[in-house]
Amino acid sequence: MKRAFSGVQPTGNIHIGNYIGALKQFVQLQNEMETVYCIVDLHSITVPQNPKELQEHTLDVAALYLSVGLDPKKSIIFVQSTVPAHAELAWILTCNSYTGELSRMIQFKDKSKEKESAPTGLFTYPLLMAADILLYDAQYVPVGNDQKQHIELTRDLAERFNNKYGDTFVVPEYKGTKVGARIMALDDPTNKMSKSAENEHSRISLLDTPSKVKKSIMRATTDSDNEIRFDEENKPGISNLLAIYSVFSGLDIKEIERKYAGCGYGQLKKDLVEVVNDSLVDIQKKYFEIRKSDELLEILREGTKKAQNISEETMIRVKEKIGLVRL
Ligand code: TYM
Repeated sequence: MKRAFSGVQPTGNIHIGNYIGALKQFVQLQNEMETVYCIVDLHSITVPQNPKELQEHTLDVAALYLSVGLDPKKSIIFVQSTVPAHAELAWILTCNSYTGELSRMIQFKDKSKEKESAPTGLFTYPLLMAADILLYDAQYVPVGNDQKQHIELTRDLAERFNNKYGDTFVVPEYKGTKVGARIMALDDPTNKMSKSAENEHSRISLLDTPSKVKKSIMRATTDSDNEIRFDEENKPGISNLLAIYSVFSGLDIKEIERKYAGCGYGQLKKDLVEVVNDSLVDIQKKYFEIRKSDELLEILREGTKKAQNISEETMIRVKEKIGLVRL
């Protein structure tokens, strides 16, 4: 049986980029293979967090997982820090990696830009991510394309370990969506949509109100030629809106282009507001039911047990290979 693994950081503002690039794939895959999904709280502490907010955001993401359609009967859903093997394997991978390869990571370079010294956790972030994936023998990692380089590194680490110690890890593959693997910021379509951008209108969060969604879409940056055509290079703003439209409506991009032939950007934006709000209403309704329920904690506890069972087996294999005693 094939298995997929992925995770989302509990940093608040989960947006439609996270949904399109990652969460939507998570839901589709649970009908095709075993699926393990984590809320990666240890990754989020690579930058300062308010402890109270971190706890809340962790449960927020768990509730969002369920609201977008993850089914705990089909998927293992758990919080990373409740399974100690993640940090343990990350250390072992640290001892089998090189500062050179970590220095080349684009995410690290971006986050440490113009700083004299960066947090060590930001530097070793991809090793913890590799540990997450390798612990579960995952063949597939559904993520947005900003994470592609981290998956490449995970593959290198797995292959290196297997060559040195004999077959131990499954070498995983990046799994991206055809449309929307990189949703761009609404205010600047040359940058990816992000949780931390200062301008709240640069993104649509899954918990935004209908009027906030309307404002963000209506003021989205486009171009001046008023032709509705998918062309990421020359028309990044309109192409981004078309990708979002396509994912939320289920129509393919060609169909949408035909539907809006001869129409102006205003019409497309107005309809997009409706298409997005229709989907968000359903997600939010479920979210508010689940978020405060005891069921949520019960699902996470169950997930921890299942994740622990799988990861402990991997750790026995790994420790034996590298010569750590088992008493
Ligand atoms: P995070 O929380 O930053 O992002 C969660 C997921 O959302 C995707 N994503 C996007 N997809 C399309 N367009 C965007 N603008 C956009 N922004 C974010 C990300 O690619 C990601 O799939 N490092 C991971 C978390 C992680 C992980 C793992 C993932 C930790 N361990 C193991 C997979 C496997 C991250 O960036 O999370």
